[in-house]
Amino acid sequence: MSKIHAAITAVNGYVPDYILTNQELETMVDTNDEWITTRTGIKERRIQKGEGLATSDMAVPAVEGLLKKRGISAAEIDLIIFCTSTPDMPFPATANILADKIGAVNAWGYDLQAACSGFIFGLSTGAQFIESGKHQKVLVVGGDKMSSIINYEDRTTCIIFGDGCGCALLEPNDEGLGIIDSILKSDGAGRNFLNLKAGGSLKPASYETIDNKEHYAYQEGQTVFKFAVTNMANVAAEIMEKNNLTSDDIAWLVPHQANKRIIDATANRMGVGPEKVMINIEKYGNTTNGTIALCLWEWESKLKKGDNIILAAFGGGFTWGSVYLKWAYNA
Ligand code: UT7
Repeated sequence: MSKIHAAITAVNGYVPDYILTNQELETMVDTNDEWITTRTGIKERRIQKGEGLATSDMAVPAVEGLLKKRGISAAEIDLIIFCTSTPDMPFPATANILADKIGAVNAWGYDLQAACSGFIFGLSTGAQFIESGKHQKVLVVGGDKMSSIINYEDRTTCIIFGDGCGCALLEPNDEGLGIIDSILKSDGAGRNFLNLKAGGSLKPASYETIDNKEHYAYQEGQTVFKFAVTNMANVAAEIMEKNNLTSDDIAWLVPHQANKRIIDATANRMGVGPEKVMINIEKYGNTTNGTIALCLWEWESKLKKGDNIILAAFGGGFTWGSVYLKWAYNA
């Protein structure tokens, strides 16, 4: 009997309507379109406006669209893995909230926190439940309302991040298609350079933490950049080597969208030309757990059954990794 792989059988995404442009940011902080564009590749990002809306509210339309495409009901989902750094609440898990909102009455679920690497950690984790035969339909969601933890007076972070959510359905495949391999890594020493200092058990919310603006994302950009550029490129090259893939074998690189310069360095290291690299950072900025899923969603119509695809990410933690998959369907 051939090995069962976990294959992506549908993808979808959702981004909020409101567009925060570089020009609008110029009116908010001391920055300019030229700096943002050359240093990051970002032109605009989406912001979830409106009272009472959270990360799960972006996941609902994304997942409902996915279910419609795949022609299944929410009740058929076995497991929801919600990859996010901006859960609706510290607890309960946003996976549970989403299940309730979409009517996934037979699913269990949990949130996965691996910052920008969350979606590939989620895919890899979800694949285990399919490969073991335990589950038939695993929904992996990656999304963040980054605007809820961004200080729009801090020009070093507010220009980078945006809101958005994507999702993928994993199902068993016996044709040799789906997730073939993954290499996942982490180094907790990186916690000092990219974090959200308060609101956890280390520093519960207080007047002081609010005054110190410690409920906003903090990043030492240059340090993170150096680790990201090396580790994301290395891990993508490592998974190619491990699976005897040359650049000609690769149909697509799907990189985490943190900085166009990090994406270019990864593609160069892999020997992959720009025509094979999914990039939408100019439209959405860094949506953290959302980036890779949003790329797959936007490129879905171009993907062909059997395509060799490499996903690669780097994020807070530090966390990083790469997934090698064979695309399983023609859209
Ligand atoms: O997704 C999770 C992982 N995160 C990442 O991968 C992000 C990694 N880091 C980066 O992408 C980059 O480090 C940034 C985009 C955050 C910053 O770019 P950089 O090229 O590393 O700039 P820098 O921090 O070295 O700053 C260069 C200069 C500084 O001025 P001086 O000291 O040279 O006078 C900054 O104060 O640019 C200044 N600067 C800005 N100027 C205009 C910093 N932010 C801005 C800004 N507009 N928004």
